[in-house]
Amino acid sequence: MALGEAKPPPRPARPERPSLRPPKEMAKRRAFGSRAGRIALLHALAHIELNAIDLAWDLVARFAGEELPRAFFDDWIEVAAEEAYHFELLAGRLAKLGARYGDLPAHDGLWEAAAATADDLLARLAVVPLVLEARGLDVTPQMAARLERAGDTESSEILLHIYRDEIGHVAIGLRWFDRLCLARGLVPEVVFQERVRRLFKGELKPPFNHPARAAAGFPRDYYEPLAGRERR
Ligand SMILES: [Fe+2]
Ligand SMILES: [Fe+2]
Repeated sequence: MALGEAKPPPRPARPERPSLRPPKEMAKRRAFGSRAGRIALLHALAHIELNAIDLAWDLVARFAGEELPRAFFDDWIEVAAEEAYHFELLAGRLAKLGARYGDLPAHDGLWEAAAATADDLLARLAVVPLVLEARGLDVTPQMAARLERAGDTESSEILLHIYRDEIGHVAIGLRWFDRLCLARGLVPEVVFQERVRRLFKGELKPPFNHPARAAAGFPRDYYEPLAGRERR
């Protein structure tokens, strides 16, 4: 495909269901031991993946006007395809549990990060792959382990598949973030911390999954200075 020009909408189109609610109104996830609890978890994750598909395509469309090599767009299209596969895996699992995406309400906070960084590519890369997707690396292994303990090996394996792919997404995010910073004569970790402090609500939540972040090439001195206090 040739690279053209596009003006992506401020918010992506959404199916009629799920109904979108403010994050505060979302019910707490139930215990994974119950089928309803697992459906709630898989539904929430499917919603995140649907947003991830849009975020990847938004990155392609919104920044097509900037001077970027072809490989930048190829990388994010590959990410978009993997996010679509993640959505399908979760939707398939929900179907086996007798549910489908749209059955439960979903929270509407996920596009905020995109809106806040719509005119700043470095900010978008800092907040989306390097904060939000990196956060997924921190929390997914425990979720997979809890599903496994609850006897739901199939869901657990889906989460681990997603986890491995997401290490790649963080790696791609970091590679482009560093490259664009260096091309502009900027120090990547300084720019990262400045953008996150200014545009991402809240501190980064420890504990971090350092080995997974390291596997993505993400050094601690980027994100550790942004860590909030560990909650007990
Ligand atoms: Fe994903
Ligand atoms: Fe991802």
